[in-house]
Amino acid sequence: MVRIRSSEITPEHVYRSRRRFMKGIGAIALGSVASAALTACGGLGQDDLDRFAAAPAGTSVAAPEDAAAGERAQQPSAGQTADELGDALTSFEAITNYNNFYEFSMSKEAVARLARGFTLSPWTVTVGGLVNNPRTYDIDDLRKLFPQEERIYRLRCVEGWSMVIPWLGFPLGALLREVDPQSGAKYVRFETVMRPEEMPGQRDRYFPWPYVEGLRLDEAMHNLTILSTGLYGKQLLPQNGAPVRLVVPWKYGFKSIKSIVKIDLVAEQPTSLWMAAAPHEYGFYANVNPDVPHPRWSQATERRIGEMGRRPTLRFNGYEEEVAALYAGMDLRANY
Ligand code: MTE
Repeated sequence: MVRIRSSEITPEHVYRSRRRFMKGIGAIALGSVASAALTACGGLGQDDLDRFAAAPAGTSVAAPEDAAAGERAQQPSAGQTADELGDALTSFEAITNYNNFYEFSMSKEAVARLARGFTLSPWTVTVGGLVNNPRTYDIDDLRKLFPQEERIYRLRCVEGWSMVIPWLGFPLGALLREVDPQSGAKYVRFETVMRPEEMPGQRDRYFPWPYVEGLRLDEAMHNLTILSTGLYGKQLLPQNGAPVRLVVPWKYGFKSIKSIVKIDLVAEQPTSLWMAAAPHEYGFYANVNPDVPHPRWSQATERRIGEMGRRPTLRFNGYEEEVAALYAGMDLRANY
């Protein structure tokens, strides 16, 4: 077993300052303090990564806070065991027990337990803004109206770890075409549910809740961009962003916003939670790019959950051929 220390991903002084931050700070306005201390993919609780380190897809590891056994799925619906690059699927146990969902906790291992029992019904997603057919979808309608397909994608967290996940979902573009964007719509803004009574993290005022993310309209319309309602052939569990979350596989994981209740077509570039919290560290684009380090660590390599050692990070997370044209002529260092 190889233990992964927090310092491997988060430099020690940052880790320490975060600890100080967590201990010392009360309810104060966000801004430079938070930005100096926090990372978009956490960094607390890295220690038990090794619990999943040698577990191939479909095998069981000791995961006391795992979902109910009856909810477990061991195979993606179509039976594939690898992505198009031949990389093995990450185990269901790791995907559902090693989570970033700050509304519940900043500890990855605590999210599954704290999210258990999260109210998923009724749930509606309101799609509006600069559209000709604004509409509020019940989650069951979303599942029925848009055929669910399986998409096996790599998920690369900005913090330096990655997974291969068999999502179930449908292209966001199909939904956007239904609501018919007006010509002035240039961006899409997404919002997570605000429910502090069920989401303990939202009671802390470290972050400017609710969690918000955004995409350029052409990024949102790209066929790789999906709204996911499931993984491993089953409906999403709360810790993974049930009942519906975004998945944008060529961008760092924090762009893939969970538990969405609102989607707006807008004219101006939205300010995401992470742009507001740490503007000098997180930009709007967040495309996976091994050549552009995070201000506090390199992005050249990553730890694939389930593997020993590190592997090189691929430009656009390996989806360069499909998405590079979206950024033709753009300076990807300036637009990080
Ligand atoms: N969405 C919300 N609402 N809140 C979050 O804290 N974390 C993001 C993203 N979406 C987050 C979120 C980050 S940092 C990552 S890496 C992915 O979700 C993790 O998704 P997973 O837990 O399903 O692997």
